[in-house]
Amino acid sequence: MNFFLDTANLDSIKKAAELGMCDGITTNPTIIFKEGKDHKQVVMEIGKLVSGPISIESVGETAEQMVEDGKEFVKWVRNPVIKVPMTKEGLRAVRMFNKIGIKTNVTLIFSASQALLAAKAGASYVSPFVGRLDDIGQDGMVLVQDIVQIFKNYNFKTEVIVASVRSLKHVEDAAKAGAHIATIPPKIYEEMWKHALTDKGIEMFNADYKKSLEGKVKK
Ligand code: G3P
Repeated sequence: MNFFLDTANLDSIKKAAELGMCDGITTNPTIIFKEGKDHKQVVMEIGKLVSGPISIESVGETAEQMVEDGKEFVKWVRNPVIKVPMTKEGLRAVRMFNKIGIKTNVTLIFSASQALLAAKAGASYVSPFVGRLDDIGQDGMVLVQDIVQIFKNYNFKTEVIVASVRSLKHVEDAAKAGAHIATIPPKIYEEMWKHALTDKGIEMFNADYKKSLEGKVKK
């Protein structure tokens, strides 16, 4: 399973990349806006830190505009993926991108039918948004299970990126469902490393080690 970071925050990306645990990055206009810097500058800086795929979103309304955006974005990083919305124009753009050898990530997927259409169009990735489905009282992870099953049934090469991740459970359930990738916000990524019993255990082992150095014997 690959871990992408769902962020444009350079410090977070750097830390994860140093640990060898950052297989790619997904961004969207909201994520980049939060960094308070120029869109192109942020994406190019991310590209210096990460060699894996970097999703950059087009806000074009027509397929032609999306392709125009994409042709510009691919100049910015080594391993670009153009994010397009799950619309008819978005999927028309996927076909156009395929013809010129540019990878795509169809975003804002909320149903298995949408994922099926995107895979049939030849998308490199689909991004089901689990958290936003949970927000409206549906079970986002059931959608991920369905998409993984459908792609297996038909041998689609499209990879599933579990997006809108809000908890450790989302990451763990994505892995259980066999999703290829989870794109994880830095806060959740940090939580993945931690457990109170790990900290407690380390503290106890360290304390006992010190005591044994001092020649104290456990009674
Ligand atoms: O990658 C898409 C994801 O960032 C959306 O997450 O938390 O805004 O629903 P969220």
